[in-house]
Amino acid sequence: MRELTTWLSGTTDPRTFPYAAVLREFHRVGKHFVDPRLLELLDGARQRLAAPEGTGSGAAPGLLDDFLDATLDKWDGRYDYRSYLALRLLRLPAGEDEPVATGGDDTTTRRDRDRLFVRLVADAVAFEVTAARGAADLFPLRRPAWAVVAKRCRLGTRAAAPALRRLGHPTWPDDTAPADAAAALHTVATTLDPPSDLSLRLSMLPVHVTHDEYLFIRVLQAYECLFAALVDELDATVAALADLRPTPAADRLAYARDLLDDAGPLFSLLATMQPESFRTFRQYTEGASAIQSRSYKRVESLCRTPLPGRLDSVAYRSVPEVRARVRAGRTTIDEAYRAAVRDGRLDGPDRRLVARRMEEFAAALLRWRRTHHRIATRMLGQRSGTGYTEGTPYLAAVRDVPVFTSVDRRPGPFEPVGGQRA
Ligand code: HEM
Repeated sequence: MRELTTWLSGTTDPRTFPYAAVLREFHRVGKHFVDPRLLELLDGARQRLAAPEGTGSGAAPGLLDDFLDATLDKWDGRYDYRSYLALRLLRLPAGEDEPVATGGDDTTTRRDRDRLFVRLVADAVAFEVTAARGAADLFPLRRPAWAVVAKRCRLGTRAAAPALRRLGHPTWPDDTAPADAAAALHTVATTLDPPSDLSLRLSMLPVHVTHDEYLFIRVLQAYECLFAALVDELDATVAALADLRPTPAADRLAYARDLLDDAGPLFSLLATMQPESFRTFRQYTEGASAIQSRSYKRVESLCRTPLPGRLDSVAYRSVPEVRARVRAGRTTIDEAYRAAVRDGRLDGPDRRLVARRMEEFAAALLRWRRTHHRIATRMLGQRSGTGYTEGTPYLAAVRDVPVFTSVDRRPGPFEPVGGQRA
């Protein structure tokens, strides 16, 4: 508090904001338990930055804005999934009308997503190793045994490897000791985007001091990064189908399928979380649920238009911007494909290729949903969700909702049973 008081009594230059001291205090007690006097000072900092005569015009005010947005969510009474994961600090879509653009061409965008994904996973496993070696005194409650840490290293490095390879970095041999692989991953990750290291550190704001919450947050953030990447690919698929470019459409779908499948070890990583730890910190996450993930619902609604019952349920009422988009009638892959086939613009091998890629992406998403349901059952049991659903019964009910309606293993208007597939 001393550092912040000093800063407030000075020029309040965002560049000299005492991030380390504030973060240390949040980490010492957990966001839910931060002293209200510190929050009041942070609120004062926010008002100072917003004042027209304020000195908040220096470099990087955006970073400070985003940090204050994430740290003051409970104080403001607007705590939710987006602020829990500090998505704005990570430049991930957080509910603005349009997703946060990474500002480049397709290749740049894909590389930016891969970089962030690798950095998040690398940071998660690096924290495990640091804590296990006793080199960090943070989040001390229920530290896992070394065998669990080693398993986390193995799964984390496996989840990051495909993105790392796409970025042109060699990975480690299969027989590398898990902690050495985690160290190698961390070393590479620190070279990927050094200017964003501070925002990555600031984006870790657990509500409690339970060790496993660190892993939980980083896995959720990594999935958010992945969903944002899927939105990029599926958006481009719609455009390609509308322009009748079947090969790029099929390639985009295949890329999206691989992204989802390659990230599979992330769920295995999360499954190493101790259910008791999860139940401890989730007491303080009420109101923050991935049902509020804009990117996930964009993925779903880019594939096909949700049925009215779902659109009017908590599933879409939790993501009002996405719901508004759907109601405004945005074209989906389902519709673009159906229209192209109906008009005779897509047929023969091209049509079969696109249909097959759609089915493969749908299968990958259904696998994701089933694994998610399994892990939620393991961690949550019969408890209700933090997103105001009854919990796993909700997930069981939505788990098998078809991803597309125009291609399906079941009989459909464009794919007779036994019909030929590419
Ligand atoms: C301990 C692990 C997890 C548990 C216990 C869990 C539990 C739940 C529950 C109960 C819901 C229903 C909404 C609610 O009331 O909160 C839900 C929804 C959701 N979860 Fe998880 N979840 C877990 C991990 C994850 C992870 C790692 C992700 C990745 C981002 C994720 C993404 C989602 C999404 C996208 C939804 C919305 C699904 C929909 O509305 O169709 N969850 N989760």
